[in-house]
Amino acid sequence: MTLAGKRIVLGVTGGIAAYKAVEISRRLVDAGAHVVPVMTEGAARFLGPTTLSALASEPVRTRLWDDPATPIPHTEIGQAADLILVAPATARIIAAYRMGLSTDLLTNVLIATRAPVMICPAMHTEMWEHPAVVENIAVLRARGVRIVEPESGRLAGGDVGTGRLADPAAIVAAVVREFAPRDLDGLSMVVSAGGTREPIDAVRVIANRSSGKQGYAIAEEAAARGASVTLVSTVERPVPAGVEVVRVETADQMHAAMERIAPDSDVVVMAAAVADFRPVRVAAGKIKKHAGIPEIELEPTPDILAALGERKPAGQVLVGFAAETDDLAANAMSKLERKRLDLIVANDVSAPATGFQHDTNAVTLFTRGEPPITLPLADKRTIAAGVLDKIVAIRHAAAG
Ligand code: CTP
Repeated sequence: MTLAGKRIVLGVTGGIAAYKAVEISRRLVDAGAHVVPVMTEGAARFLGPTTLSALASEPVRTRLWDDPATPIPHTEIGQAADLILVAPATARIIAAYRMGLSTDLLTNVLIATRAPVMICPAMHTEMWEHPAVVENIAVLRARGVRIVEPESGRLAGGDVGTGRLADPAAIVAAVVREFAPRDLDGLSMVVSAGGTREPIDAVRVIANRSSGKQGYAIAEEAAARGASVTLVSTVERPVPAGVEVVRVETADQMHAAMERIAPDSDVVVMAAAVADFRPVRVAAGKIKKHAGIPEIELEPTPDILAALGERKPAGQVLVGFAAETDDLAANAMSKLERKRLDLIVANDVSAPATGFQHDTNAVTLFTRGEPPITLPLADKRTIAAGVLDKIVAIRHAAAG
């Protein structure tokens, strides 16, 4: 519940993307926020207020007048908010907010607040690129207003261009980031994620079931908390905001990328599922069926984590993962020692809803000389937060 106790005003303005406000609201509520929905009259032409009321924390307000609860809804809403999120934001609301015009309830709320404001524009490319809009956005940004950039994609008229509302998940992630503690500010971090793919021939690979979700969640949470993060990844997933991605496929490529980036990193997390074995020979073309059942000879891949452990610079925190089905504690502790790690994140992959491909996980954190910490079943972002809390604690202990 990363947004527990947070009161978020969700301002919805009149555009086709207004329907996406419903999903944004649902996701905010799921994350623990109290969502106060405010719609403009234009928005109410695109989205039924009843629908949004049902998925927010209280009924939608649209008007400055005749609110049965209070004669001054705008000041009450604005003052009590922890964040005002406008999604979607039309060119009109952006211009009105820039000018300080107070013409309806939402524009009044925007002015009658000291809370941070986050604007998620959605409009046609021509409008988004119009000098007036460009200037308004620049002025708002300079005032400290958070802008969640629109995406490029298919627009309401069927044409393609920049201006589509950012993905609801990305908008909610930006909100979460706004409230995250900044305890990793100034830290550089590299995280590996996903399973490696080792080629057999021109079309076939030896792969594994790793989705990369836990590694991506760690990278996303670390960036939200202020770290500068590089992800060395084998999977195609949406790139978390503020994270740089280096794409690799094989254990060798991952090894090279990690050896290049790790020496300058304060924290190194090997969350990837690296193949332990790869074919000795890779057939140049496609191995044909009529040639009979092939014998594929395997050889070990380099142990990337062990190599990083051998060359670990002073002060670096090195973190490994262990996927186990038996003797979790003993196996994890032996890997911690063997690979010279500071922390190992062990998960019992035989337990339900944990590990590969799931959105949830449950892990135990093992360090040297301290009792293990169990992080019970939760979404992978929450698990990531627990792992990072432990990394922060290790750094503090090392700093004395
Ligand atoms: N790892 C690595 N390079 C490899 C294999 C694993 O860097 N070639 C890393 C993984 O990213 C993970 C940790 O080592 O952080 C544990 O991986 P695991 O495969 O469980 O460890 P092994 O030492 O291979 O032990 P076992 O196969 O006996 O479980």
